[in-house]
Amino acid sequence: MAQYRISGYKRPKNTKKTLLHLLSYLGHHKWLFLLVGFLVCVSTGANLLGTYLLKPVINRFILPGDLKGLLEAVCGMGVMYLCGALATLGYSQLMIKSAQTVVQEIRSDLFAHVQKLPLSYFDGHTHGELMSRFTNDVDTVQEAMNNSFAMIIQSFLTLTGTVVMMMVLSIRLSLIVIVFLAFMFAFIRFNGSRSRKYFRRQQEELGRINGFVEEMMAGQKVEKVFNHEKKDFENFCILNENLRRESTNALAYTGMQVPTVVSLSYLNYAVSACAGGLFALAGLMDLGSLASYLVYVRQSAMPLNQFTQQVNLLMTALAGAERIFDLMEAEPEEDEGDVTLCYVKEENGKLTESAERTGLFAWKAAEDTLIPLKGDVRFHDVVFGYVPEKKVLNGISLYAKPGQKIAFVGSTGAGKTTIINLVNRFYEIQSGTITYDGIDIRRIRKDDLRHSLAMVIQETHLFTGTIADNIRYGKLDATDEEVREAARIANADSFIRRLPDGYDTMLYGDGGNLSQGQRQLLAIARAAVARPPVLILDEATSSVDTRTERLIEKGMDAIMEGRTVFVIAHRLSTVRNSKAIMVLERGEIIERGDHESLLEQKGRYYQLYTGQFELE
Ligand SMILES: Nc1ncnc2c1ncn2[C@@H]1O[C@H](COP(=O)(O)OP(=O)(O)OP(=O)(O)O)[C@@H](O)[C@H]1O
Ligand SMILES: [Mg+2]
Repeated sequence: MAQYRISGYKRPKNTKKTLLHLLSYLGHHKWLFLLVGFLVCVSTGANLLGTYLLKPVINRFILPGDLKGLLEAVCGMGVMYLCGALATLGYSQLMIKSAQTVVQEIRSDLFAHVQKLPLSYFDGHTHGELMSRFTNDVDTVQEAMNNSFAMIIQSFLTLTGTVVMMMVLSIRLSLIVIVFLAFMFAFIRFNGSRSRKYFRRQQEELGRINGFVEEMMAGQKVEKVFNHEKKDFENFCILNENLRRESTNALAYTGMQVPTVVSLSYLNYAVSACAGGLFALAGLMDLGSLASYLVYVRQSAMPLNQFTQQVNLLMTALAGAERIFDLMEAEPEEDEGDVTLCYVKEENGKLTESAERTGLFAWKAAEDTLIPLKGDVRFHDVVFGYVPEKKVLNGISLYAKPGQKIAFVGSTGAGKTTIINLVNRFYEIQSGTITYDGIDIRRIRKDDLRHSLAMVIQETHLFTGTIADNIRYGKLDATDEEVREAARIANADSFIRRLPDGYDTMLYGDGGNLSQGQRQLLAIARAAVARPPVLILDEATSSVDTRTERLIEKGMDAIMEGRTVFVIAHRLSTVRNSKAIMVLERGEIIERGDHESLLEQKGRYYQLYTGQFELE
């Protein structure tokens, strides 16, 4: 895999900034990395010196025939190489350890930041794209950290050290090597730029094929329903062939580098050996120097190869790191609120803050005043659009008195879900105000605001875990009995008990082993277990049969007695008993009233109810 990336690196846009950011992570482990640097120097120094020692060994002991001296010197060399080997082992182990820790830190910073991003960020980026930061990009960083950092230093030191040592041994002979090294370097640069072009294309093709396969997996059912297998396979074959072609091109060039440089280095060796031999015969050079010189020549190609490979790998990693840091620098959700939620108890008509979970809440403003949480939600002339130029809500005003059940009806795309997204502050409004118990919701801390609301959103989402875990998501410390009670309210208890493992049945892949309606019941149970002051149900029972819906409604009405509930439903029987029904059309409330009065008006609600609307 490393070969793939060698010459085909994508350059980061701002190398210096990214490198500094990455180094700041290494900075947390300064001492470890200093130790790594030291060991790298030891290992390089030992190798260079070990080779240099050949000269005195030959000149002083072998040529004069001093066996005892030779043994001692060889032992000395052995010790030196051993030190070098131990240092190499030491730094690579240290590097692996610290690299994993750094990557772990990067991953958790990234995860924590993604959690803070506003929903609007996810609207503009595909999941696959964000996922790849966690997988591909973190991978490249990890790979580079494991090897590149240390190897780049080591190969650079080895290369300069080798050239210096060769010059020390023979200036004249080193000129040959320098010419060869310059040739190799020029070749590597030339070849690198060609293969980069193909490599980029290969990456693009890889992205295309991945995207295609991903979509295929997700849309399997639709593919089968419409008999699209043959067509899709043909499309896949085209993508597959493109990928093969580009990969072959990319690898053909990449694969040329090492053999060519190695061949050049053999040639270099041969030329140096001939020239050195002649020099020795002419008495310009002693045998010891020649032997150790030739070993240096043999060694010179490797660090050059290694250096360019690792620099390229590091560049790829920096491009990955840049994408990771870009995500980390994405603007997080604003939260300027200072009003918090607290438990209170009432004594002689006066509210006081309580450390216990009294079940009674109040808003606590900065000046320590307590405002009881009632669930009074008001919109004043709210204007909003997901993108500034396209308004979705045009001047919505409404109020929900505590204890009321407010319903929104209206055609698809009218803006019902949007309204409740704003109560939760998933998005920021453009003008107007939303108040909650008289407090502008922008003043309320987001966590507390959301804590006071439970929501069953339109698209049910279940997590991998047991059924009980999924219900407990609404209140993490709920007891088993509370979980069961919530399931009974949501009418989920009976089907759960019929499952082989009951409440301990594992759910995988978003609850794929349950029916759509059953998944909704779990979502409702999750909201019920939270016992929130305000409840929002967005098409919460759209897949549930009407009889079960009635039963859920009864249960929910009982626990939401005196609390505010927002209901959105297309099935108008669901909202009939609401205190106020708002009829929404193209982002405006066009009618409001209770069921009877709306029917009397003979307007849009009447049309929706009697089905005339669809017939028109
Ligand atoms: N995340 C989003 N980004 C951009 N536009 C959006 C987004 N979500 C919804 N919209 C647009 O806002 C409008 C209102 O959508 P909304 O989801 O509020 O409709 P709805 O009344 O809930 O419809 P439905 O009955 O189908 O659930 C639609 O025109 C839709 O295209
Ligand atoms: Mg909706």
